Amino acid sequence: MLPVVVVHGGAGHIPKERSEKSTMGVCSAAQAAYFVLQGGGSSMDAVVEAVTSLENNPSFNAGCGSVLNIKGEVEMDAIVMDGKTLASGAVSAVRNIANPVQLARLVMDKTSHACLTAEGASQFAHSMGVAEVPQESLITEYSRMRWRKNLAPDANPVESQMGKMGTVGAVAVDIEGNVACATSTGGMLNKMEGRVGDTPCIGSGGYADNLSGAVSTTGHGETIMKVTLARLILFHMEKGQSAEAASDLGLAYMKSRVGGLGGVVTVDPKGNWAARFSSKQMSWAAAQSGMLHHGLYTGEHFTQNVEEPH
Ligand code: GLY
Repeated sequence: MLPVVVVHGGAGHIPKERSEKSTMGVCSAAQAAYFVLQGGGSSMDAVVEAVTSLENNPSFNAGCGSVLNIKGEVEMDAIVMDGKTLASGAVSAVRNIANPVQLARLVMDKTSHACLTAEGASQFAHSMGVAEVPQESLITEYSRMRWRKNLAPDANPVESQMGKMGTVGAVAVDIEGNVACATSTGGMLNKMEGRVGDTPCIGSGGYADNLSGAVSTTGHGETIMKVTLARLILFHMEKGQSAEAASDLGLAYMKSRVGGLGGVVTVDPKGNWAARFSSKQMSWAAAQSGMLHHGLYTGEHFTQNVEEPH
């Protein structure tokens, strides 16, 4: 069954005119990560490849395309976690970085810390030779338009919270049976400056453990943190639930206990996988055994051959 990669492009409402680009984006990210696995790359290499691809795609709320905070600025969060060692790295409220997921990996690989934030994270990026990019290169016309619209006095707060989500993430199992996760986000539209969501918080935005599996989450961060959604799902897997059943149990608990909607991608160390969500939509794609699976609505599942790299 090994190896496998599963990616998501965010839970919430995806406007019709953006659904095709969203589907193409997750499929392309899953395929790129799958080639890494097929070439003998680690699950960590694969999830970073997938999330880098999604961060570089302006259709998603991560990297270029991130939603804007109340001041019209980009502040991003990201996490990676390695299921073999339980090592993790995260960054929060970072600016002027094209690929926060790569900086999170550097935090894991090159420091003795688990999370760096804001200015300290920028200084670390500089010391690692990570290029600083102008904020304008991360802002799309679409994100600017949504920011303006949500400043309006008649903006719908529910729409602001759920309709505009779009965190990206990936989980993978490599040929050695090691699992990993990565998650990256611009956070919540019109959030307060300095607001940090679930994404960089271990156990909330993601978790990976070779003894149970790996999860990457998406949805309303303040709600996900209340139930530590990623770790909750792995707890159910430790108790014998499948990746799919455990994902549904975690999401159902979040809905019933704190009224939150969201989505997850989950794998177990054997390569069983799930892409589940309680929101209206979540773009997702999974690549395994030469096949690419993808969907957008509940119950939707398309399958095709993995496309060879050009
Ligand atoms: N789940 C992304 C966020 O709330 O920041």
